[in-house]
Amino acid sequence: MRRRIGILTSGGDCPGLNAAIRGVARAAYETFDAEIVGIHDGYRGLIEGDYSEMKREQFSGILTLGGTILGTNRTPFRDMRKIGDDNVDKVAAMKKTYKDLKLDCLVTLGGNGTHKTAHLLSQEGLNVIGLPKTIDNDIYGTDFTFGFHTANDIATEVIDRIHTTAASHGRVMVIEIMGNKAGWLTLYSGVAGGADAILIPEIPYSIDKVAEVVQKRAESNKGFTIIAVAEGAMDKEEAKMKKKDREATRAASHFSSSAYVAQQLREKVGVEARNVVPGHIQRGGTPSAYDRVLSTQFGVHAAELIKAGVFGVTVALKGNEITHNLLQDVAGVSKLVPPDHQLIKTAKNIGIIFGD
Ligand code: F6P
Repeated sequence: MRRRIGILTSGGDCPGLNAAIRGVARAAYETFDAEIVGIHDGYRGLIEGDYSEMKREQFSGILTLGGTILGTNRTPFRDMRKIGDDNVDKVAAMKKTYKDLKLDCLVTLGGNGTHKTAHLLSQEGLNVIGLPKTIDNDIYGTDFTFGFHTANDIATEVIDRIHTTAASHGRVMVIEIMGNKAGWLTLYSGVAGGADAILIPEIPYSIDKVAEVVQKRAESNKGFTIIAVAEGAMDKEEAKMKKKDREATRAASHFSSSAYVAQQLREKVGVEARNVVPGHIQRGGTPSAYDRVLSTQFGVHAAELIKAGVFGVTVALKGNEITHNLLQDVAGVSKLVPPDHQLIKTAKNIGIIFGD
């Protein structure tokens, strides 16, 4: 039986998207009669009917390619059901494109926002399968998302490189790792890179605790300190504020989280503290070997689900098993770092501080 599959990538890109697209396509072509439609720039393409009929050759040579061959978009519509000034009923438009294209299913590769819309479309009667991607690793129900390990390798290399220059100059270096709500990437790269302090959004920090470590190290023969701080980390005072007020205060001061920590340390300890923001470097380029394997496994599992007619789910890794969860259980739930997570205990046991 012929099946027409729509594929889209939505939200921030990450390494492994093309490997996952390739996994879906190759397994589909190998195991059933498949036609694949590439939807451009995420849900925008689905809303506006912007797509292309894909050929088998287009899925060749993309395993190692960073980014996404389909394009992506952080859909600016927070609430897909809300009719904006343009008067477009986005849900109706997406359903129309799906119907016009005579799709049998839609595969959506994305993070939390993407999963919310995937669930909405599934509730609207479309056959949807999600694939969890994000360097933030914050999708509920999967041990890891693809993209995370590559970003972790990159962030760790950044910390390693900063380490040697920090040691040479006896400086405090504050490295800002991506992750606005979730601190997974900062936690993992901080441990892997041997940071002295790790500051994550889930554990508001006291700058006095961080300053104490900096002071101690300045007085010891280790005259430098490495601090890994998540983009969304906040101190205990900021944590008391409403999110909106906190963001407004930060924006007014023009401080990113690392610049803020460096500034606080300069004031408190009088040390030379610099901040580094590797930014989108963490999301760019070729996927690591781990992510190539995981993305391929996820993509192939999605094709198996299509063949079996299982929809309304998203693919997941649990232990060593590739499996899936219901979209309704995953949509709208972020997987944050539990403050009693094993890796936090491990880090604390080797003397890394979290500022709590
Ligand atoms: O979701 C991945 C991520 O890289 C986050 O870590 C970061 O906060 C955000 O995207 C940055 O988004 P943008 O690329 O839209 O600035």
